[in-house]
Amino acid sequence: MKTGKAIRQDFISFFEEKGHRFVRSSPVVPIDDPTLLFTNAGMNQFKPIFLDLEKPRYKRVVNSQKCIRVSGKHNDLEEVGIDNYHHTFFEMLGNWSFGDYYKAEAIQWAWELFTDVWGMDPNRLWATVHHTDDEAADLWPKMTDIPPERVLRFGDKDNFWEMGETGPCGPCSEIHYYEGADLSRMSAAGVNVEPEYKELWNLVFIQNNRLEDGSLKDLPAKHVDTGAGLERIVAVLQGKTSNYDTDLFTPIIEHITKITGVPSSEGDGVAHRVLADHVRMLAFSMADGALPSNEGRGYVVRRILRRAARFGRMLERHDPFIYELVDTVTDVMGAAFPEIVEKREHIERVIEAEEASFGETLDRGLEIFARLARDLSSGDVIPGEEAFRLYDTYGFPLDLTELMAREKGLAVDTKGFEKAMGRQRERARGAKKSDVKLEGQEWVTLTEGESSHFLGYATIESEATIRKYRIYEADKLDLILDQTPFYAESGGQIGDTGTITTPGLDLKVVDTQKSAVQGDEEIIHFCEILRGKLDSETKVTAAVDADRRQAIRLNHTATHLLHKALKMVLGDHVQQAGSLVAPDRLRFDFTHYQKVSEKGIKEIEKIVNQVVHEDISLDASVQDFDDARKGGAVAIFGEKYGDRVRVVEVPGFSKELCGGTHVDRTGDIGYFKITSETAVAAGVRRMEAVTGNNVLIYYDQEISSKQAELKRIAASNEELASHLSSELSEVSTMAVSAELQRALDPDSFTLGNVENLEKHLGDLTTATEQLQKEHKVLLRELKKQRKRVSSKELFDDLTLTEIATIRIGFAILDVHDQDEFKDLAVEFKHRLKSGVVVLGTLSEDRPQVVVAVTDDLKAKLPAGELARELGQRLGGGGGGTPILGTAGGRDPSLLQKVLSETPAVVQHRLERQNG
Ligand code: ALA
Repeated sequence: MKTGKAIRQDFISFFEEKGHRFVRSSPVVPIDDPTLLFTNAGMNQFKPIFLDLEKPRYKRVVNSQKCIRVSGKHNDLEEVGIDNYHHTFFEMLGNWSFGDYYKAEAIQWAWELFTDVWGMDPNRLWATVHHTDDEAADLWPKMTDIPPERVLRFGDKDNFWEMGETGPCGPCSEIHYYEGADLSRMSAAGVNVEPEYKELWNLVFIQNNRLEDGSLKDLPAKHVDTGAGLERIVAVLQGKTSNYDTDLFTPIIEHITKITGVPSSEGDGVAHRVLADHVRMLAFSMADGALPSNEGRGYVVRRILRRAARFGRMLERHDPFIYELVDTVTDVMGAAFPEIVEKREHIERVIEAEEASFGETLDRGLEIFARLARDLSSGDVIPGEEAFRLYDTYGFPLDLTELMAREKGLAVDTKGFEKAMGRQRERARGAKKSDVKLEGQEWVTLTEGESSHFLGYATIESEATIRKYRIYEADKLDLILDQTPFYAESGGQIGDTGTITTPGLDLKVVDTQKSAVQGDEEIIHFCEILRGKLDSETKVTAAVDADRRQAIRLNHTATHLLHKALKMVLGDHVQQAGSLVAPDRLRFDFTHYQKVSEKGIKEIEKIVNQVVHEDISLDASVQDFDDARKGGAVAIFGEKYGDRVRVVEVPGFSKELCGGTHVDRTGDIGYFKITSETAVAAGVRRMEAVTGNNVLIYYDQEISSKQAELKRIAASNEELASHLSSELSEVSTMAVSAELQRALDPDSFTLGNVENLEKHLGDLTTATEQLQKEHKVLLRELKKQRKRVSSKELFDDLTLTEIATIRIGFAILDVHDQDEFKDLAVEFKHRLKSGVVVLGTLSEDRPQVVVAVTDDLKAKLPAGELARELGQRLGGGGGGTPILGTAGGRDPSLLQKVLSETPAVVQHRLERQNG
C-alpha cells in the first residue's frame, strides 16, 4: 500500500519532471492579507501573479498547500465529521501555469498521473466542464482515452471557480471518481449529486477577475490553477471509502480511542472524526501564528477548539485531552511540515489552556442546552436570546449551538441571536464611560450638515461649528462638531484631550471617541464645563493639547518602527496582536513564542534608533486598498479596511495601513528605549517602550533606583566588613570602601545626553554586580569567622562531666544550619580527645540533638545508639553511625531536660554492658 507521504511526493515529482518548480506551502494564516481569514486554496499565494500585480519567478509551479476552510466562500464546516471526506484542514496538491500551458496539457497530465502513474481505474473516472466550455469538452476525449459520454457539462455552481467575493476566477474542469461497489450502477446522473462520486481534482482555467461591483474583467493572460485533495486521493489509492481510514488519519483516530477508551466503531464515529479533523486544523493554524481569541481568525480557532471539546464530552472526556493528540499529528505530518514539530510545545500549551478554561463552563452549558431541547420538538426553533445566553455566559459559539440543534432536528433563531448581541454591545458601550449615565440622553441637533470631518493630520487647532450636543450632568457635555482636529481613539492610539471654547463657554475635552450616532460614525468630544454654559452660540475654537499630542505622535511612529524591527530581528511570523499609543509610553503586543533575549532587545533598539538618527521624512497618502497592498503596505489583521486606505510610510523602512497621527520626521522621536518585555498569553509577548523626553525621565528613575540599591548594598557591605574586621583583624575593608565611594558620588553624572546616561547606568549596573559579588564573599567570610570564633567560645559553654573516666560534654546551642551543628559536635569531640559530645538545638521549634563519639569509645558507646535513646526521651527517634548520630523530637520544652540526662543515659548503657 502506498503511504500518504509517498503519494504527496509522487504528485510533486510528476510535475517536477514536467518542468515545474516546487514551491513551499504558504502559511495557512495568510500574512498581511486581511481579506482572507485562512489560506483556502493553493492559488492564494499566487493571486498577485494572476492579477498581473507581480511577475512570476517560474512559469510552472507545483506544491502541496495547507488549506483551512471554515469560513467565507469555501466553507465545509457543517459537513466535517458527519461525512467522511470533508475537512476543516486539508492539503491541496496543485500545479500551476502562469501564462504558459493551458487546458490541453492540464487535462492530459491530470489523466496521465491518475491512470498511468497511480493506476486508477479509468472506468470509474468522470470529467466535468463548464457548459460553455466547448474547448475543454473537446479536449478531454482528444488528449485522453476517456469516452466522450463520460465528459459532462455543468453550470457556474459546479464549474466556474472563484476565489472569494472578488479576485481571480474562471471556468473549471473536474475529475470525479466513482467509488461504489457495483460499477453497473454508475451513471452520469450521480455526478455532483451522489456521495459515491468524489470530486478529486479541479482544473481551473483562470482568465477573469471578479470585481467589487460583481462584473467580470478579462485578465491579460490565461493561467492554469489546479487543486487535488490529497486526503481523498490517498483514500482512493489505499482502497478506502473514508479519508479517516487512510494512514493520514488512522494514527490520530487510534490515539483518540486509546485516550477515551471508546473505539471509533462504537456508535456513528462522528466524534472521532471531528476530533481527528479539528486537531489537525488547530495544530496547523497555531503553528502559523493563529491563537484563540474573541475576534476574527482567533475566534475561528476558538470555535473549532470548542466544537472539538464538545465532541470530547460525547466520548465522556471531561478534562483536557485534545492537546495530547498534537503529538500524533506531528508524527504523521511533521516530515512534510516541520513547522508543527518546531511549534509542538507551544501548540500543546495553548490547546490545553483553552480546553481547561472552556471546560469549566462547557458541562453547565450542555445541561442548559439539554433542558432547552427537551422542551422543544423536531422542527422547533431555539430562541435567539437563549443561543445568546449560551454564547455569552457559557462560551458556546453560535455554530456550535446550531450544530447541536441540527443533531436534534432543531433550528436556531440567528437573527434573534444577532439582535441580542447588538443590544449587549450597546450596553457595553454605555458602560465603558462608566461614570456617565447615558441612558435616556438624546443627542440634540444644533446645526445641520456634514459632521466629524477630521483635520488633525494637518492641524491641532481650528474653528468649528457644533452639530450636536448631549448633556447628562450639570458640568458635563458631549459634542459633535462639523470638523475637528481632535483624534478619536482608534488603531491603538488614544483619544486627544484639549479645549473647546466660545466667548461664553470654556470646555475641557477629557477624551475623544468614535461612535455611531444615528448610524454614522462620529467623533465625540467628551467635555467638562470649566466656565459658562452652552447657549445659542455654535461657533467654537477647538484646540488639541499640543504637547500631549506631540508625545503621542512620537510613540505612534515609534510603534511602526518597532513593528518592523521586530520582524527583522525575530522573523516574519511576528504579527501585531494589539497596541496602545499613549503620550507617556507605547505598548506593543505581538505573536512570538519565547522571551526576546537581551541581545535581541538591544538589536531592535539599535535598528529603531538608527532610523530615528537618519531623520527620514514620513509620507502619508490615501490610496486604493489593492494599490496599497501591492506596494507592500502591512495591514493589521482584524482591522477592517475600506476601499480607500491611508498608508503611512517611513520611506526605505516601513509601510503600514494606518489612520493615526505621526511625526513629520523620524528624528523628532529623539530616542527610543524598550523598557520591558513580558508574556501576555501563550504565544503573545508584550513590549513597552518610551521615546523623546520620556527616555530621559526613564533613565532618571532607573538611575535613582540603582543608586538607592547601590547605597543599600554598600551600607550592608560596610556593616559586614566592620563586623569582620572587629572579629578578625586581617580582613581589610579598605578596597571595598574606596570602590564604593567612587560609585556613589552623586556628582559623577548629569542628565546630559542619552548615551552618557546609558553608559552611566551600565557603570552603575557593573558596580552593583561587583558589590553584590563582594557582598557574597564577605558573607561567606563572615560565616567562616563566626564559626571559628564561636566554636572556641561555645566549647567553653559545654557542660563537662565524667562517668567512669569517660568525658561527657553537652550543651544547647543556637545554630544556623544542620551542617554547622554537626561540624561543631565533631570539632568538640576532637577537642575532648576522648569522650562523648551531645549538642542540642531548636530547629523550627523542634528539638534536635547530635551525638559525636571519639573512635576509642565507639564500640562501647555507639553514637547512633545514644542518639536513639535520646530521641525516644524527646518523644521522637534517632539513630546514626557509631561515631555520629542524630535525634529529633516534637516538644521543645523537653530539650533541656533530656540533654541534662545525657550522663545518665551513658551510665545506663555502660551498666547494661557490664551487667
Ligand atoms: N483553486 C482551485 C480550488 O481551490 C483549484 O479548487
